Amino acid sequence: MSENKQSDICILGIESSCDETAAAVVKNGRQVLSNVISSQIDIHTLYGGVVPEIASRKHMERINQVIRQALSDAGMTFSDIDAIAVTYGPGLVGALLVGVAEAKAMAFALQKPLIGVHHIEGHICANYIAHPDLEPPFGCLVVSGGHTHLVAVRDYGKYEILGRTVDDAAGEAFDKVARAIGLGYPGGPKIDKAAKEGNEYAIDLPRAKVDGSAYDFSFSGLKSAVLNYLNSCRMKQGLDGNVVYSSKTDRPDFDPFELIDPEENITVADVVASFQAAVVDVLVSHTIRGAKEYGFDRVAMAGGVASNSALRAGMKEACEKAGIKLYYPSPVLCTDNAAMIGCAAYYEYLNGTRHGLDLNAVPGLKLGMR
Ligand code: KG4
Ligand code: ZN
Repeated sequence: MSENKQSDICILGIESSCDETAAAVVKNGRQVLSNVISSQIDIHTLYGGVVPEIASRKHMERINQVIRQALSDAGMTFSDIDAIAVTYGPGLVGALLVGVAEAKAMAFALQKPLIGVHHIEGHICANYIAHPDLEPPFGCLVVSGGHTHLVAVRDYGKYEILGRTVDDAAGEAFDKVARAIGLGYPGGPKIDKAAKEGNEYAIDLPRAKVDGSAYDFSFSGLKSAVLNYLNSCRMKQGLDGNVVYSSKTDRPDFDPFELIDPEENITVADVVASFQAAVVDVLVSHTIRGAKEYGFDRVAMAGGVASNSALRAGMKEACEKAGIKLYYPSPVLCTDNAAMIGCAAYYEYLNGTRHGLDLNAVPGLKLGMR
């Protein structure tokens, strides 16, 4: 560790809020020395979604190894670490508890400061790693499997929520539609790929507005419209309309050109392209309106759905038109990882945040809450 200066702050970040067991070492907030992610996707795919009980068990099996790997990849030992950071909410309680217990045990044994991090703050901070020039204030669209928030990032650790989903998160809508149409879990990347083969104008789907709230989102009506469309196609073919395509979940031979409506020549790719376009439309229009009204000339995106190629393209075009600079992290920093936790923790560390050994998992932790 000879290249480290005395004043450098190296934080070991731990993330276990959902189905990724992750650990990373981050120097001075933005320099990622290691970033280890052990994904459980293969196991949860068998069930068509994350099974909380299995997620907790897998975290317990893997967490020590993942931490050891993160230290070794960074060329460090525990004594080189200045603080231990961990996601303590929001997320699955049993999954969060594994990371929190591990971090507390390490902080106690090593006598190092403990910093609890909000998972969504972590997602937002992934942008600081990807863009060393980015500083607050800016607007941020957070779109993940569990959250859809339009956020004003006022300063490090200071967030104002401008809008949020009133029902499904964007990623959840992707996952549910993918499951219904037989693409399997996780649906986002699969819809992203299949939609490239489809016509986004093939079917007319709603762009939901939430009454009285310019920046809130609603995706459950859109999801229902897709499911109703699939069922009506089945009924037209004399099949049972209530059967969703779950029996086809995650078929390796999936064909995006399979006809959903043979009469109209509409394929699976057309349906998912139309669905994706409806989601992107709403996400982009709310973000640009928010940025203009709140005076942000910089907008960032964060969370798993920020990897979506249509969202990136749509947001890029709209930002260029509006004279707004757009930021987003690489896909590996969009989905759950611990480097973003180490980054968020660095700014908390500078602000003096230290948690005690009574830190607990908070599954419903609100953004900005400490
Ligand atoms: O941020 P993340 O890894 O976990 C949560 O904190 O929820 O986000 C996972 C979500 C899943 O719903 C997944 O389907 C979605 O992100 N996702 C995508 C894409 N890649 C991941 N959604 C749309 N397009 C993608 N390329
Ligand atoms: Zn996440």
